[in-house]
Amino acid sequence: MIRYKKFISRFIASLILIGFISNNTVFAQGEALFKAQCANCHKPNQDYTGPALAGARNREPSKDWVYKWVANPSGMIASDPYAKGLFEKWKPTVMTAFPALKKAEIDAILDYVDAYKEPVAPSGTAAGATSESSDNNSLLFGILTLILAVVAFILLQVNSNLRKLSDDKEGVLRGEPVPFYRNKTYLMAAVLLLFGLGGYTTINGAMGLGRMKNYQPEQPIYYSHKVHAGTNQISCLYCHGGTQDSKSGSIPSVNVCMNCHMAIKEYKGEAITREDGTSVNGTAEIQKLYAYAGWNPEKKEYNPDNNKDGLPDGAHPIEWIKIHNLPDHVYFNHSQHVKVGKQNCQTCHGNIQEMPEVYQYSDLSMGWCINCHRESKVDFYNKADSTGNKFYSIYEKFHEQMKDSVIDKSGRKILNPHRMDSVTVEKIGGTECQKCHY
Ligand code: HEC
Ligand code: HEC
Ligand code: HEC
Ligand code: HEC
Ligand code: HEC
Ligand code: HEC
Repeated sequence: MIRYKKFISRFIASLILIGFISNNTVFAQGEALFKAQCANCHKPNQDYTGPALAGARNREPSKDWVYKWVANPSGMIASDPYAKGLFEKWKPTVMTAFPALKKAEIDAILDYVDAYKEPVAPSGTAAGATSESSDNNSLLFGILTLILAVVAFILLQVNSNLRKLSDDKEGVLRGEPVPFYRNKTYLMAAVLLLFGLGGYTTINGAMGLGRMKNYQPEQPIYYSHKVHAGTNQISCLYCHGGTQDSKSGSIPSVNVCMNCHMAIKEYKGEAITREDGTSVNGTAEIQKLYAYAGWNPEKKEYNPDNNKDGLPDGAHPIEWIKIHNLPDHVYFNHSQHVKVGKQNCQTCHGNIQEMPEVYQYSDLSMGWCINCHRESKVDFYNKADSTGNKFYSIYEKFHEQMKDSVIDKSGRKILNPHRMDSVTVEKIGGTECQKCHY
């Protein structure tokens, strides 16, 4: 009976776990899709270019309405009364059609939006919090070790004193105990300890030369990722489109900022404070942007080009300070990781959407690259449901050979001696020196 109980409770626990995980992945998929496809025009709980999406399914005429709408908004506006009403309210903008979105994907987006909660006020970024707590842990362990060492030392002293006492009582003659600072064993131990610690810090420091984890320079404009990518849900790719198709992450030009800031002249959002406690005047920062762009917000036009350099008078590029910087001998390609490898920006850059000012989240060491290549699985092409990376369809033959059992020459099924259940980046050569070093 007890065995049964154990089994049942484990079974239920794993069911809950599976439910939780699969629920979470659907939710994450909804979030990713919403941010990539819809967030330029919609917010969950606030009207934007289009209506707030939370609860949209409840106000719409039928359950299937939204699938038809997303697939073909202009067609619906022409034929459906509810859609016509919507358009009257939001014209002249007509929503973009997304005919390729599947029903499950639309459901995932709307589930995400319905469950969305406004981010709570900053209490240190999540990333900062975890690294802080691990720092705290090592400090705690350090102090504990020190206390234990002192206790051990005192006990040793007490022990030798007691031995001396009992020897005296029994009349055994012994010399005075040597004081601990002249005791050769203690001295030896101390020297060894110092040597080890010194060596460790020297080597660690030398390896860390040139690494800039947590680097957070002051930028020419106080531009907050938290305001843009977090609160206003602007997709990273809107500004950093280069990450999809090129080696570099690319910083947006002033034009990209002006797409929105011709209209957004003031900052009315939540108060922003710098890390040193001083507050940031968002509206004044937007004025700085206008100075860089050569834009006259009163007249709503760019300054004339009197000096004929092809730019409005006074316009000059914003000199953003580069934060991430690999040494020149390393080759790193964004599109290979973002588009091909399907890695999230946040895995490498931390929760940028929660950072008022960007800082370098990872140490960008060689070990960091290699560890991820050892663990990450390559997204092989799957013929059955045509998911995964088409490029790897050329490895179909090897994929077959990796399966659990193979047919040998005489036609018998045997266990495959080379079988594996997945292929990591390491196995396709992701740890070979020349892949990363020119
Ligand atoms: C180019 C801007 C734009 C994008 C991108 C966009 N929408 Fe819209 N959406 C609108 C506008 C504007 C309306 C209001 C109707 C109209 O004028 O077309 C709307 C209306 C809707 C409605 C009806 C809301 C209601 O009140 O019933 C839904 C649902 C919707 N959008 C879902 C989505 C989803 C899901 C995505 C992403 C896959 C998306 N939209 C992307 C602009 C956009
Ligand atoms: C509205 C435009 C915009 C959006 C949206 C945006 N960024 Fe940025 N990003 C910038 C600008 C401008 C800079 C340079 C100034 C700075 O470092 O803060 C920058 C800098 C960065 C940097 C540091 C680059 C360096 O110098 O090494 C990273 C990393 C980054 N962004 C990642 C992201 C991620 C991830 C997202 C989405 C969550 C995102 N950005 C969304 C405009 C944007
Ligand atoms: C897709 C639209 C969009 C783009 C592109 C955009 N912004 Fe913004 N920006 C906003 C919105 C929305 C706000 C918040 C306004 C509010 O809450 O009142 C904002 C606020 C700001 C603020 C005040 C808050 C803060 O972050 O200090 C500054 C400064 C700013 N933007 C600079 C920039 C710069 C520089 C760029 C180009 C790299 C840029 N913006 C690109 C939409 C945009
Ligand atoms: C696998 C890790 C990884 C992922 C995923 C990743 N980045 Fe980067 N990113 C880096 C590294 C490493 C650098 C430094 C590159 C250099 O110095 O050559 C960098 C640099 C940048 C820069 C500065 C410009 C440059 O290329 O040096 C921007 C902007 C940026 N990343 C944005 C993004 C955005 C946006 C995403 C998500 C779409 C993203 N990154 C995903 C690792 C990553
Ligand atoms: C978060 C995990 C992650 C990190 C961190 C990471 N990579 Fe990768 N990398 C991948 C994945 C996944 C692929 C496989 C992409 C594919 O399917 O081809 C890859 C592929 C590569 C490749 C191509 C390998 C090949 O055999 O074609 C190079 C080169 C590379 N990474 C360089 C780097 C460098 C340099 C760094 C550190 C600055 C780095 N990567 C950090 C996940 C990562
Ligand atoms: C996945 C990418 C990757 C691979 C594979 C790789 N390296 Fe590196 N390597 C790096 C990065 C990133 C750095 C820069 C580390 C830093 O700046 O701290 C680096 C730095 C170095 C350095 C300079 C010393 C240092 O730590 O800064 C040497 C030497 C080196 N690598 C040798 C090798 C050799 C030898 C191999 C093959 C066994 C190899 N690397 C494979 C990414 C890689």
